[in-house]
Amino acid sequence: MILLDCTFLILTSSVLSNVALHQTNWRNFDMVKHKRLLSGSISTKSVRSALACATLCTSDQSCCSSNYEKVSSICKLETSCSPAMEQFQDSKVMIKVIKWLPVFVAYSGNEKSVYTAWRNQTECYDLPTPLAIANTTRHVRNPLIDSWSDAGIKKVKVQLVKNDVTVAWLIFNGGNTNTMNWFSKENLLNSSFNDLTTSSTTKFFGIQGDM
Ligand SMILES: *[C@@H]1O[C@H](CO)[C@@H](O)[C@H](O)[C@H]1NC(C)=O
Ligand SMILES: *[C@@H]1O[C@H](CO)[C@@H](O)[C@H](O)[C@H]1NC(C)=O
Ligand SMILES: *[C@@H]1O[C@H](CO)[C@@H](O)[C@H](O)[C@H]1NC(C)=O
Repeated sequence: MILLDCTFLILTSSVLSNVALHQTNWRNFDMVKHKRLLSGSISTKSVRSALACATLCTSDQSCCSSNYEKVSSICKLETSCSPAMEQFQDSKVMIKVIKWLPVFVAYSGNEKSVYTAWRNQTECYDLPTPLAIANTTRHVRNPLIDSWSDAGIKKVKVQLVKNDVTVAWLIFNGGNTNTMNWFSKENLLNSSFNDLTTSSTTKFFGIQGDM
């Protein structure tokens, strides 16, 4: 039995809505003026505008930063979100904004299988909804989970919450994972294990066993 409520958040570059709209929104990029990237590990090509360059980055989920040099029309695409840069006039670096999105909230005590709910939207209430919804008769799920591989997911954070306070958390690598295999020891990047007692650790890994 799971005694704690559990929240799953994913860290993703905020391009998913762009992909859906097929357009680039500058709000999804942090702009660094008068700088250029030292390398373009994905590609370096000539394009017509900074917007065209950012759009190429938007539509490539491995791209996290891009650079447009006005005079030469060179567009560089780079996987790193904190790339090496140098001063350069008439050039700007456009870095995708990375943010956490809530994807799943499991409530204790509703006798619903987390494993079943994780895989099936119709078993759940839809996210986005306020996380503090009063009705906990179902788990809450973001349909984004069904587009996992297209979402540009970087990290997945699991929080265990008791009386609205996060009592433990784990962060997993989410790159090149699917909805089922991200939750593994190999993908674990960091956690607050010190906050877990031995008995709650056992309960937590019960979820993993369930999944
Ligand atoms: C998802 O859940 C609904 C409602 O419980 C059920 O009718 C449907 O068969 C489930 N789909 C799958 C793929 O398990
Ligand atoms: C929870 O919401 C569902 C659907 O809106 C409703 O049928 C159910 O009665 C609610 N349960 C409680 C305890 O409020
Ligand atoms: C892990 O999290 C702790 C607590 O927030 C932090 O101090 C530490 O730097 C993190 N370690 C890594 C490798 O990110």
